[in-house]
Amino acid sequence: MSKITDIQGTFTLNNGVEMPYFGLGTYQADNDQEVVDAVKFALDQGYRHIDTAAVYKNEVGVGKAIKESAVAREDIFLTTKVWNSDQGYESTLKAFEASLERLATDYVDLYLVHWPVVAKYKDTWRALEELYKQKRIRAIGVSNFLQHHLEDLLQSAEIVPMVNQMEFHPYLVQQDLLNFCTDKGIQYEAWSPFLQGKLFELDITRDLEEKYGKSAAQIVLRWNLQKGVVTIPKSVHKNRIASNSEIFDFELNDDEVAYLDSLHKGERTGPDPDNFDF
Ligand SMILES: NC(=O)c1ccc[n+]([C@@H]2O[C@H](COP(=O)([O-])OP(=O)(O)OC[C@H]3O[C@@H](n4cnc5c(N)ncnc54)[C@H](OP(=O)(O)O)[C@@H]3O)[C@@H](O)[C@H]2O)c1
Repeated sequence: MSKITDIQGTFTLNNGVEMPYFGLGTYQADNDQEVVDAVKFALDQGYRHIDTAAVYKNEVGVGKAIKESAVAREDIFLTTKVWNSDQGYESTLKAFEASLERLATDYVDLYLVHWPVVAKYKDTWRALEELYKQKRIRAIGVSNFLQHHLEDLLQSAEIVPMVNQMEFHPYLVQQDLLNFCTDKGIQYEAWSPFLQGKLFELDITRDLEEKYGKSAAQIVLRWNLQKGVVTIPKSVHKNRIASNSEIFDFELNDDEVAYLDSLHKGERTGPDPDNFDF
């Protein structure tokens, strides 16, 4: 596995694209000055990866922040996602153009199928393959795909997804799925690494916090990276955006990684990919 170096370090995707393993999430960041300020501040702090989605309704703000930032567009890894109601071949092609327009850019670095809408995800994937071949997207992937969704998709896919973005935190490790993705060359990416904030009410990392002089957030993010998992913690607060990235000056040992792995209990904060109705 690649060495974890700094906030701009990358994992190499199966098509050779370098994906910064640390980024900023923007779910529930308002599409006004809130998301603009958060993204600009993160870029200032050295973040080079921003995660949004059509359904977050803040692509305009994300695009504005990128334009206003001193960091060049080509130095930023930008992800967005096609929403469920837009899935299908033609409608995905259209949704992609609409996302680009809102983001005020002419390409995205990573485009994801947001959820495995069973009757549609294969057609959606064909649209992503087409856009990828047209070089409108640097990497294509999926989100919330369990092993059986991936196996089904891989039966007809021309291109193996480069990424699977999944809920991932100490209570939802899903090591078998992570291993399956690794075997297939699919980069695993964590969403809700802090269980959407619930982590801070738990007391599962206290010993590690004391040992390393780090916060629960920093311990968990460091664990994500040491497991080879890309992570995109969300915050709109400057102090948290900054401190969440201060994870490159310590290293968990194997037992500590195994301890965090052992907390897995299959507990989700978000919907179940096998049982969602949106
Ligand atoms: N693909 C998918 O289906 C999917 C689903 C969910 C999320 N995502 C992506 O993954 C990103 C991260 O997940 P998430 O936003 O659901 O949850 P998260 O990153 O686990 O947690 C975010 C929450 O933690 C708080 N927080 C952040 N840093 C903190 C710190 N150092 N101390 C205390 N509180 C802190 C934030 O509050 P403040 O903002 O107020 O600081 C926010 O309430 C999303 O933003 C989105 O980009 C993808």
